[in-house]
Amino acid sequence: MRTFLTLENRHEDTLPEGTPWADIRFPARLVEVFLEEYTQPGDTIFDPFAGFGTTLIVAERMGRVPVGIEYNHDRWEYARTQLRPAANLLHGDSRRLIHDLPAPIDFSFTSPPYMNRGDAENPLTDCSELYAPGTDGYEIYLRELSALYRALGERMRPGAWTVIEASNLRREDHLTTLAWDIARAVGEVLPLERETIVGWEPTYGYGYDHSYCLVFRVPDRT
Ligand SMILES: C[S@@+](CC[C@H](N)C(=O)[O-])C[C@H]1O[C@@H](n2cnc3c(N)ncnc32)[C@H](O)[C@@H]1O
Repeated sequence: MRTFLTLENRHEDTLPEGTPWADIRFPARLVEVFLEEYTQPGDTIFDPFAGFGTTLIVAERMGRVPVGIEYNHDRWEYARTQLRPAANLLHGDSRRLIHDLPAPIDFSFTSPPYMNRGDAENPLTDCSELYAPGTDGYEIYLRELSALYRALGERMRPGAWTVIEASNLRREDHLTTLAWDIARAVGEVLPLERETIVGWEPTYGYGYDHSYCLVFRVPDRT
């Protein structure tokens, strides 16, 4: 797989009119590219921040077994309507529900909720309208992501790959190196082995035209 891809930042399907925060989806093509490279039909594919279900919908379409968790009720409900009734999509907090997942998971692909250093809201909550106020801070957010991926690593097949798509966040007065900080924080519990930079046409958002797919690997247990 190339370490730099160019993809169109567009969606084949439209969400119901008036859906809030519709732009948080990543394009289905991104998921396809990674599932083609890293998985086989029949593999179990997990998304801990399932959103509108893009990872799971593509996984099902490609003959993989989707498993996911989404905190926001409306998104969870929407994603369920796009999947077969038997699909394993849990509603709630992945930090807690990760421990109830069926194991082993063969591959994981997600985009986490983003946080700027200094934000006053906690993105790891149910953001029905806006992210809930009352943050514990950026370092705690990173630590919680790291704890989630430690628990996920224990439920994944040894040698399996897990990918996080993220961007740095640039504002006029401020830069948060989110993608790099996630690479460091999650890399403390699962080795970061690769990255693919995706150049988005016409653009990405958050002050950038590109994002990172950070590729971690669960160690082989001996
Ligand atoms: C960037 S969006 C994912 C979008 C998804 N890739 C798609 O294409 O629709 C991140 C999602 O994580 C959810 N979320 C935030 N905190 C969560 C948590 N603790 N457990 C589960 N889901 C959470 C948010 O509600 C949001 O829908």
